[in-house]
Amino acid sequence: MQTNKSLMRHFINIKDIPGKELKKIILDAKKRKAKRKNFNTLDIDKDSPLKGKLLIQMFEKSSLRTRLSFYIAIKQLNGGALTLRPDELHLNKGGESLSDTAKIISTFGNAFMLRTNSEEKLNILKKYLTIPLINGLSPKSHPTQVLSDVFTIEEIKKKSISKLKICWVGDSNNVLNSLIEASVKFSFKLNIGCPKKYEPNKDLLNWAKKNKGNVKIFYDSKKAASGCDVVFTDKVISMNDKVNKTQKLINFKNFKVTQAVMKCAKKDAIFLHCLPRGPEVSNEVFLGKKSKVFQQALNRIYVQKSILLYCFDKLR
Ligand code: CP
Ligand code: NVA
Repeated sequence: MQTNKSLMRHFINIKDIPGKELKKIILDAKKRKAKRKNFNTLDIDKDSPLKGKLLIQMFEKSSLRTRLSFYIAIKQLNGGALTLRPDELHLNKGGESLSDTAKIISTFGNAFMLRTNSEEKLNILKKYLTIPLINGLSPKSHPTQVLSDVFTIEEIKKKSISKLKICWVGDSNNVLNSLIEASVKFSFKLNIGCPKKYEPNKDLLNWAKKNKGNVKIFYDSKKAASGCDVVFTDKVISMNDKVNKTQKLINFKNFKVTQAVMKCAKKDAIFLHCLPRGPEVSNEVFLGKKSKVFQQALNRIYVQKSILLYCFDKLR
């Protein structure tokens, strides 16, 4: 099996990937999507770039969209996917070390996509895997989601995201962290509306500031949305969020995306949500005309493909 270390890259955090490469991923996804008009889901892209490659994926937390999109993505590139259940590995019962597991995965497969409860696990795997590692959501980031969202925004708005003002209303969670990182890499304005005690991580905000980021925090959802092109939100209670859920939901009661919030954004503003959803958005907004959440979800396939190609150093 081929394991040429110099020709592979991990995709773990947006922050650590050069902006130029991220833009190449978006461009490749645009070109590939355009070429698939009238293709069936499992038809293979004409250039068949990942022929014979095996993507191994594992989810330590639930997933619908990430699971489906990576499966379809690798298939369309002419590779195959195998999903491991963490409860069926020796690893989770303490019978095998993470480093040995990583070495085995590296010799059997060609890329590993992991949704995990632990940043530490990503760090250890990065050390021992000799194949690309893709972060399919961790407690601190959700990079594949956010890169795909940049794609969706540019597709709908038909302009570079650097010319747009993006708003996030809600919790300072993994998705927002990746969005902050993306705001620096893609040079877009980001307004965040959240309760005072739920501000984003200070180190991340300092990193954004140091790197010419344009991130503004508001303690008012309407002020945050004012004049924006896109309004995002996400669940107040994320998977494995170990908090007093009732209290947290109360603390966020003024940070729900309603029609009144959408009215503060630009007239042609769109609403995005990575899903799954909770009470952070009204049904009216979620199912309304401005909502592009289903296009957003489907686009995950196209961007996962270009992320995979980036990892294999196969972006044209
Ligand atoms: N948005 C997202 O990552 O969805 P899943 O949790 O269903 O994969
Ligand atoms: N912030 C959410 C995203 C789900 C895709 C979570 O981590 O549960």
